[in-house]
Amino acid sequence: MDHKPKIAIQDLTKVFYKKASSVTALEEITMDIEDGEFVCLIGPSGCGKTTLLRILAGLENPSTGTFTIDQGKEDRPLQSMVFQERGVIPWLTVEENVAFGLKMRHLPKQTVKERTAYYLAKVGLGKFAKLYPKELSGGMKQRVSIARAFANDPEILLMDEPFGALDEQNKFILQEELLTIWSETKKTVLFITHSIDEALLLSDRILLMSSQPGRIIAEKIIDLPRPRTMEQVRANQTMADNFVEIWNHLQDEVQGSRV
Ligand SMILES: Nc1ncnc2c1ncn2[C@@H]1O[C@H](COP(=O)(O)OP(=O)(O)O)[C@@H](O)[C@H]1O
Ligand SMILES: [Mg+2]
Repeated sequence: MDHKPKIAIQDLTKVFYKKASSVTALEEITMDIEDGEFVCLIGPSGCGKTTLLRILAGLENPSTGTFTIDQGKEDRPLQSMVFQERGVIPWLTVEENVAFGLKMRHLPKQTVKERTAYYLAKVGLGKFAKLYPKELSGGMKQRVSIARAFANDPEILLMDEPFGALDEQNKFILQEELLTIWSETKKTVLFITHSIDEALLLSDRILLMSSQPGRIIAEKIIDLPRPRTMEQVRANQTMADNFVEIWNHLQDEVQGSRV
């Protein structure tokens, strides 16, 4: 049997045109992501990370190049996206937010109810099902987004700095919750972060991007056993070396773009 990656991106370039000028946001991106893999994408601000996720989510078209997402199971959505902020619908309750995609797909009422309750419990929001987003903290809103994304049962999950706006304590808790749910569901995840610590904790593999135009310039396999904790990441010499190496790469990219 021939092998098929979950996400295959081939020579993908994205150019934005504005009046007389143009910006090459992404240049010749080629990568494969395996089924069940957790990949983190790190790169300097403006290097095209969000653009890449938006293309994979079908919200933008590539200028040239192609990508495919393997549709494993019929009638499953291809992708769910989790944003840094503003991911929840303000006029829907917590449970309505989580159930939203399932209702749109006209799944049986009982399935919607069960799946919503299951993922709300997973992220510790069982008691808050009837609240509205304005009654929630930032961390709770991100929990709603994560519960909704997993409840949708998509082929792949696209996460754009989902914990970027959270305080450290909340971030640690949500990272652990995410890893727990991921280890149960074995979803393919493409996760953007600007935190090297976060990438080391979460990922099977880290891809590093250059500053604009965004290209993939390095890859690191993170083979620390799971389940992981931040203490283990911090105490591990190889991870410390990885940290410094990635840090230096990013410094070079940021310096290089300041001309
Ligand atoms: N819709 C758009 N129109 C024009 N330029 C855009 C658009 N979206 C993004 N860009 C430009 O593309 C580049 C990459 O942006 P983005 O993907 O948001 O970077 P990142 O998420 O890595 O910070 C930036 O220079 C940004 O200004
Ligand atoms: Mg971005």
